This record gives sequence, C-alpha cells and structure tokens, in this order.
Amino acid sequence: MTTPQIRPATGAAFSRILGVGGYRPVRVIPNSEVLNWIDSSDEWIRSRSGIAERRWAGPEESVAEMSVQAAGKAIAQSGITAEQIGGVIVATVSHLKQTPAIATEIAQRLGCGTAPAFDISAACAGFGYGLGLADGMIRGGSAEYVLVIGVERLSDLTDTSDRSTAFIFGDGAGAVIVGPSDTPGIGKVIWGSDGSQRDVISQTQAWDTAFAKQDAVNGVGEEQKWPALRMDGQPVFRWAVWEMAKVAQQALDAAGITADQLGAFIPHQANMRITDAMIKALKLPASVPVARDIAETGNTSAASIPLAMERMLESGEARSGDLALIIGFGAGLVYAAAVVTLP
Ligand code: UT7
Repeated sequence: MTTPQIRPATGAAFSRILGVGGYRPVRVIPNSEVLNWIDSSDEWIRSRSGIAERRWAGPEESVAEMSVQAAGKAIAQSGITAEQIGGVIVATVSHLKQTPAIATEIAQRLGCGTAPAFDISAACAGFGYGLGLADGMIRGGSAEYVLVIGVERLSDLTDTSDRSTAFIFGDGAGAVIVGPSDTPGIGKVIWGSDGSQRDVISQTQAWDTAFAKQDAVNGVGEEQKWPALRMDGQPVFRWAVWEMAKVAQQALDAAGITADQLGAFIPHQANMRITDAMIKALKLPASVPVARDIAETGNTSAASIPLAMERMLESGEARSGDLALIIGFGAGLVYAAAVVTLP
C-alpha cells in the first residue's frame, strides 16, 4: 500500500496590511513630571532620547482593554468583521499574568469566534515577529485574516528611581489586520536574535527569585522588590546603530526596493538619535518621511511601530499604498525588519 498523501494547505498568493489602529492612554507624563523622580533635566532627556512626553496607562487601561480599542480601529479600517479573523497574535512583554495568554481574552472580547490566539515575547521586535507569522499563516493557508497586536504597559515594569530607564518607557497598543492580497504587500521579514547579549536589556530578576529571595531574607509580609526593566543603554545603542542599519538594508534588498522608493521609514521608537543614525547609514533621502512618534509617546516596545504607522497615516505624512520600511529591535536581543505596503 502506498502511503496516502496529505492534501496540501493552500493559502493566498500574497498578504498585506489591510488596516491599522492605535490606542494611547489618557494620562500624559511630561518630562517635568519625570524630574520629580530622577536627577535629570528636560534638556538632557530631549537631547539624549528625543522624548518630550510619554503616556502611562491608568488602572482601567489594561493590556486587554488597550488592545481591544486598537484592534477595533484596525478591524473597522480593514473592512472585515471580527468573525472573519482566523488568528490573533499579541506581542507583549508586559502582560503580567503568566497564563493564559492575553490573546484569548482579546479574541473573545472582539468576537473572533474560535480563532487561534496566542502571545509572543519578542520585546521591541514583537510586532515584526507577529507580522512575519501572520504573513506565513495567510500564505500557508491556515488563516485568511490575522490580527497582530503590539501592546505594552511598560510603566508596570519601570523603576521610577532608575535614572537610566525612568524617562524612556511608555504605554499603548497598536494593531493591524493582515489579509490576502493579489500583489505582494509584505516583503521578506529579516529577523533574528543574539542571545549572547541577553543581559543588556532585561527584567532585573525573575518573579520567583525576586519573591523567594525576599521571603527568605525578610519573611512573608515584608516589602518585596518588584522586578523592573534594566537597560545597559550604550551597548544597546551601539548595536542598534551598527547592526540594525545592516538588517534594514537586507530587508530593502530582499524586497527589491531602494531607499528612495520608500514612502515612509518607521523604525522602532527607541531613541531619536538611533533613528537619525540609521537614516544616515541607509542614505535615506530627505524626501522620505520618518516616524518620530517617540517625542510624544516614549518607547512603547512592541506597540511603537503600529502606533507610529497610524500617526503617520492620520497626519497625512504617509499615504495608503506607500511602501514603508519597518524595523524593530530590542531585548533578547531580537530584531525584525520588512518592507510593507501601508494600509
Ligand atoms: O527599546 C529597546 C532598545 N533600546 C534602545 O535602543 C535604547 C538604547 N540606548 C539609549 O537610547 C541610550 O543609551 C540612553 C537614552 C538610554 C542613554 O543615553 P546615553 O547617551 O547612552 O547616556 P549614557 O548612559 O552614556 O550617559 C551619559 C551621561 C552620563 O554622565 P557622565 O558619566 O558622562 O558624566 C550619565 O551619568 O549622562 C548621564 N545620565 C543622565 N543625565 C541626566 C544618565 N542618565 C541620565 C539622566 N539624566 N536620566
């Protein structure tokens, strides 16, 4: 007897982003407020990072709530219904409940039926990782439409007494719907990791050691040290400037696009100086609009690219149908870059 052959799954020829939406928390934290926590200056924060203010979520603005708000806008713009969504991917490092994944709650609240729903932990590259997965799912035939969300409440993981990170992080959510397309709308995703540098951005301690150690030393009921994000800024800065420009160039080359053909450059909003260095390394013509959302939003990790994308489209800086180069990079270290057609 010959081994029966499995019927191959067949998907769409190509995929593209059909809609984008963002959610920005109500509370604005200007640099002047940060100066109540750390010894710094508005001038230093602006000149070293490009940040003037950031938004921090209130108690009602949970990871799920912000995601549902952002996704609702992306769904509306894409012209599909929530029931048509065949996959929900949530990129986040700040959903503080280990299990279940927050994606299942978001899928259920949006009305996505029984769509597979899962979280991914790829820090500031999370949105690009999600996009790569969504593209594969759609072309592979396991989903027709996929919701990709980048969402963070980094304020929960910020040590406001830490001079090197207290001013950087912000909260928010950005979402896109990815669906089938007759023409290529997502270029090859260039993604990767470098675990040898895993310690340069990380949580200070794992939850178990943080709490077990405190228990052993102080006994139950004593104040325990909440793990926060720590970053060794300079090595990350150098890596981002030198290595990420190469990755961005690879994404352009793989897509067969030159920098002058771009309608937008949307890097992860880590630091305005990193963005400027990348522009130089890529020899990006001055005519290409560049996302500078960090000034009002801070660094929102997985949420930063879709939030910046939404802002550029809403402000008219970039137009639907334009080509955009996106690149995310961060804790892991991990990175992901691609050329995409804007929704
Ligand atoms: O999203 C994930 C990826 N993340 C990134 O890509 C972030 C990469 N890194 C960075 O963006 C930058 O390294 C920071 C913005 C975090 C820091 O900027 P920097 O230019 O690298 O500052 P630094 O740590 O080298 O410190 C320079 C000086 C030091 O003083 P001295 O030794 O030169 O006298 C610091 O003590 O600035 C001082 N400093 C501050 N001054 C005022 C450090 N933090 C502060 C502060 N306010 N908050």
